[in-house]
Amino acid sequence: RLHTIGRGSVVKCLQKVDTFLHRNIGTNVVAVQEKNGFKSLYAVQAERQEQAERSVLISCHSMTNEKRFLEYLANYGDIQKYFFYGIYAVVEFANKESIASLFEGTAIPGIGMETMMPFKSRLLSMRNLDSVDLRNQPKKRLAQQSIPINELIQRLSKEESIDQQITSLTEAHQLTEESCRLRFLVCSLLKDIVAPFFPECTIKPFGSSVNGFGKLGCDLDMFLDLDGISGKNATMPKSGLFLEYQMKAAKSERIVTQNILSGIGTCMDLFGPGCVGLHKILDARCPLVRFTHQPSGFQCDLTANNRVAMKSTELLYLYGELDPRVRHLVFTVRCWAQAQGITKSIPGAWISNFSLTVMVLFFLQRRNPPIIPTLEHLRDLAGPEDKSVIEDNDCTFVSDFSKIQLESNTETLEQLLCEFFEFYASFSFQTLSINIRKGREQNKPVGDPLHIQNPFETTLNVSKNVNTTQLGRFVALCQESSWLIQQNKTAPSRGGTEGKATITLWGVSNLLLPSQIEEVKRKQNSSKKQKFEPTNQWIKDMLKSMKATNNQQNQS
Ligand code: GTP
Ligand code: MG
Repeated sequence: RLHTIGRGSVVKCLQKVDTFLHRNIGTNVVAVQEKNGFKSLYAVQAERQEQAERSVLISCHSMTNEKRFLEYLANYGDIQKYFFYGIYAVVEFANKESIASLFEGTAIPGIGMETMMPFKSRLLSMRNLDSVDLRNQPKKRLAQQSIPINELIQRLSKEESIDQQITSLTEAHQLTEESCRLRFLVCSLLKDIVAPFFPECTIKPFGSSVNGFGKLGCDLDMFLDLDGISGKNATMPKSGLFLEYQMKAAKSERIVTQNILSGIGTCMDLFGPGCVGLHKILDARCPLVRFTHQPSGFQCDLTANNRVAMKSTELLYLYGELDPRVRHLVFTVRCWAQAQGITKSIPGAWISNFSLTVMVLFFLQRRNPPIIPTLEHLRDLAGPEDKSVIEDNDCTFVSDFSKIQLESNTETLEQLLCEFFEFYASFSFQTLSINIRKGREQNKPVGDPLHIQNPFETTLNVSKNVNTTQLGRFVALCQESSWLIQQNKTAPSRGGTEGKATITLWGVSNLLLPSQIEEVKRKQNSSKKQKFEPTNQWIKDMLKSMKATNNQQNQS
């Protein structure tokens, strides 16, 4: 074919492809960032954003015939990927132009009793006027929520080792490829609402949606990025004429952020299809707009001017990519904490998932040899292109994974999980602060019960909200879990497969059951007459047994 179309055409064609790639996904940057098989978060985001812009979200009747559905959409262009979840389908076209032609063929809904807000978006509904062809072949509908805890406990009990349980837990909980695509698509749909006012903006997901530690069904943290606005770096002439934009001024950057969020929050509330239950939380340390995106089911937090959080996301992502044990341990500890009520989905005096993740990272830095490097080390490896100072905070760390040399630690997941509980069961929270920048404990400033230094805003404590009761619960549960896992380390033998197979809970499964100590405490509280001795005895026995196990291990 090259012979027949000629060299000139080939060159032109390649130039077009090259321009397309550079313009649309910044491929040259992506290639640099993909060294050694690692993709930087920047590269992942660029790729996903580009996919999202070519995608639409379509509500379709559960009886819609998949083949006819796809044939209809193929009239507008090649479909690169599609999937169904609930009553929705995500359809990604091969080219962005297909979206424009799809819009041309899309109707405004019939008015009926209501009047429509004339705002067009890529959230569409497929209607079928043809009642004959409603029979459907089964469609694979993907789950967007993680499996219920009881099911997970049963599943883990069937595994052969604690290491396998931990891997299986991560697989069951982690975001799927589709959930990830859907998250970027929601950001892209919301960007279309903001773009008439700020055409150069982007809305990027951050936090657990992209840091590698996201669980199916986790919230969608979004960041309205206006940094790309052109003209910021335009050089002023030393003399002569030049033009500048007339813009409204406000007293501080915080007020600008609040005004932007307030304005676009109103637009989302009034025009945004699918955006419901919107609240503006503008007085928070980090102002935000919270709402539910109904078609995806995501609870969304939209922030602006939140670049430090973006940097923490990038850092967590990097740590998660360095060694697979990092993600496995974080998923397991997060799941355990949720099952035990250490973390909750609403804000309060409890430990947040972010704090818990930093605690796991710190623990991994304290292994001998360390499994992950300190943030100071990552900063020392940074090149000039990595330099980042945000509001006087040094957020510099290396982005080129190939510069990071890891030490050869061969500990198993089982060892690490047991050691994690022991580490925090006996950590001196009263006097010491957790510091992943230095990778070692620091003397704690007076005040908060739990002190975890914010990795970038180093004068702040990420766990400032945690009170003594919640910290006490965390420590008590670490002690109990440390003991429990020591007692149930091996999978029960699975003889006698005839008849009813009963599942024995063991290993990680046991850690996800309600705490026995707390159960006893609850009972005691509910019956005031009950004496406290039995519980105390129970705890004493448990601690004795823990000590005995430790001594045995030390001797062997
Ligand atoms: P889940 O939403 O609970 O799954 O985890 P998450 O990591 O997304 O936590 P969250 O939604 O609470 O916060 C989103 C992101 O904001 C985190 O991943 C961090 O990057 C950042 N963040 C949250 N809390 C703090 C904090 O106290 N200090 C700093 N610097 N960043 C924070
Ligand atoms: Mg989150």
